[in-house]
Amino acid sequence: MTYPIRIVGNQVVLREFSLEDVEDVLTIIGDDKVTTWLSFDSRDRDQAVAMIEGAIERAQQEPRTEFYLGATKRDDDRVIGFARIGLSGVQAGKLGYAIAATEWGRGYATDAARALVTHAFTELGLHRITAAIGPDNAASIAVVQQLGFTREGTLRDHVFTNGAWRDSVLFSVLAHEWSW
Ligand SMILES: CC(C)(COP(=O)(O)OP(=O)(O)OC[C@H]1O[C@@H](n2cnc3c(N)ncnc32)[C@H](O)[C@@H]1OP(=O)(O)O)[C@@H](O)C(=O)NCCC(=O)NCCS
Repeated sequence: MTYPIRIVGNQVVLREFSLEDVEDVLTIIGDDKVTTWLSFDSRDRDQAVAMIEGAIERAQQEPRTEFYLGATKRDDDRVIGFARIGLSGVQAGKLGYAIAATEWGRGYATDAARALVTHAFTELGLHRITAAIGPDNAASIAVVQQLGFTREGTLRDHVFTNGAWRDSVLFSVLAHEWSW
């Protein structure tokens, strides 16, 4: 069964979203410090509600093709970030994540990404996971490099965000390269 999912990492728990998460989600996706690095502009409250409703609806589709989970600290159910894998292609998935700016630098993104990628390889049977990251996003590049992803190359004008086209650097990891 792929719904609901709860993944316990070393520092964070990944769990399904609920509409009670709106305020916490808004502190992440409504913050320009976070969204300047994402493929979309900052969202307002209504858009945060719509994002959560969409995630809940897609989470219950069969077969499930999106694993968009809230990240909480292990001892507190409030959402401080998210990690997402969207299935695409043959046994392949695209990884994304963000952490509230007040919580940066404590290892939460690395732990959330590690936990979700492990789940994707062990439980979902994926073969390949990619992350497309802005070339200047040093913190996010540090996350995937710590996890052993390989740099594949540049995707030119990959996203239109914050009013301009932006390249991405594509990183990937294959199931047989992953140690858990
Ligand atoms: C990228 C992001 C998720 C990292 O979250 P985090 O919880 O702070 O990450 P972690 O603490 O697990 O690790 C961050 C790593 O980046 C490094 N880092 C942080 N800021 C950095 C910077 N400006 N330059 C270089 N490295 C940096 C940290 O030192 C750490 O590496 P270390 O463990 O070797 O010291 C967070 O900065 C964020 O939400 N950014 C905006 C959204 C985003 O960019 N999402 C990813 C889109 S591809």
